Amino acid sequence: MPPDHSVHDRPGLSFLGTGYLGTTYAACYAELGHRVIGLDVDTAKVAALNAGTVPFHEPGLTELVRRGLASGRLEFTTDPAVAAAGADVHFLCVGTPQRPDGTGADLDQVAAAVRTLAPHLHGRALVVGKSTVPVGTAEWIERLLRKHAPDDADPEVAWCPEFLQEGHAVDDVLRPDRIVVGARGDWARETLARVHDGVHELAAREGREIPVLETDFATAELVKTAANAFLATKISFINAMAELCEASGADVAALARALGHDSRIGPEFLRAGVGFGGGCLPKDIRALQARAHQLGAGAAVRFLHEVDLINQRRRERVLQLAGELLDRTAGPAGPELAGSRIAVLGATFKPDSDDVRDAPALAVARMLHGAGALVRVYDPLGRENARRSHPELAYAESLEAACADADLLCVLTEWAEFRTADPAALAPLVSGRLVIDGRNCLDRQAWHAAGWTYRGLGWKEAA
Ligand code: UDX
Repeated sequence: MPPDHSVHDRPGLSFLGTGYLGTTYAACYAELGHRVIGLDVDTAKVAALNAGTVPFHEPGLTELVRRGLASGRLEFTTDPAVAAAGADVHFLCVGTPQRPDGTGADLDQVAAAVRTLAPHLHGRALVVGKSTVPVGTAEWIERLLRKHAPDDADPEVAWCPEFLQEGHAVDDVLRPDRIVVGARGDWARETLARVHDGVHELAAREGREIPVLETDFATAELVKTAANAFLATKISFINAMAELCEASGADVAALARALGHDSRIGPEFLRAGVGFGGGCLPKDIRALQARAHQLGAGAAVRFLHEVDLINQRRRERVLQLAGELLDRTAGPAGPELAGSRIAVLGATFKPDSDDVRDAPALAVARMLHGAGALVRVYDPLGRENARRSHPELAYAESLEAACADADLLCVLTEWAEFRTADPAALAPLVSGRLVIDGRNCLDRQAWHAAGWTYRGLGWKEAA
């Protein structure tokens, strides 16, 4: 995309934290014509990014980073003075993981980023929150900035949540479906409007319009967690229906299709299966409950506890199905699977990603391993990350190697490689033609036709 003529007027931007969020934003905004600096404390990551290597998988991002570096508009640094001097607007993009000692969000990285940047600020500067945070964080950042910025600095805070989905992150940043701006004053709003000129121009060229919603801090902060809580609830809703389908003989995939035709419900996020995982939905619903509780509004989101429980139960269901298919007796702790060879197909929390954070596939692999099974995991992209986080599991280098002599296959991430695998070609490799489709992504008829006993999640095999 050729940058617009007016790009030299665009504000300089810094992105604090160069994970999925910060790196994608930095590269996309350099592409839109801004001078951009990505700041991180991780020297190895900064060196890799400056050499054009993105340390995680995100389609299209490596090309954009390389183009940004070559244009001279994009650089990565560990030096906060460089970020402060080179940018007018600073975006907080650091991680807000679940606290190790509880369910709330850990804001240590946010505090560290603000404390690191603040002493280098001079004059007017805008610090914009993008990370997903508990409501009330923007005001806390205002206080932190006042405490740590020098007297000649006049920093202002705004909140501008992001909604990017891994695997679509570049497009989500360049073509957002809405822009939410939480700000106190006109200067902050006007500055952010200039920052967003590029995405609006792109939208205009493509005949689209991006709605801009101006809100207070609290609403802007809450939009993101509320959106993720809604998505998690929608997934757990269909997974609760899956439990009911299993008990009643109905078929959840057909049910979801029928529900999705109602435009008020919509077909998205109704894929029943082994549930949601990743770096966002699980920790965000827990953090929202923790924050609501602090605010005295815990009862309002108590249902999210149930959303979490339904999600966890889907993992246990795979274990239970494995016991049934392998004809193993179940004790109070679940089925005993000692000696069974199980191929776990998938390790990432969703396909086209190498992210294994809170991945249902890996959680199930560990549960099967814990029940005594000899588990072999194969994932097209997530093997290395999975191996690092769970070295106790065995990993295969190909689908065929994972399936060799297996008594049971469990498909737990819906990679195209698994969806399109030929069941007739896999059949001679295994010891038992048993398959659990944890994502309802396989062609049941084709697997049956090739002699497999197939079980999905959310429907009962006719007797
Ligand atoms: C999510 C939100 O979609 C995004 O807007 C937010 O900014 C960050 O969190 P992401 O974590 O990248 O994005 O993944 P997403 O595509 O939403 O999937 C989350 C999980 O839900 C995955 O494990 C996926 O397999 C699962 N899922 C999704 C289902 O089980 N069923 C569905 O119908 C949809």
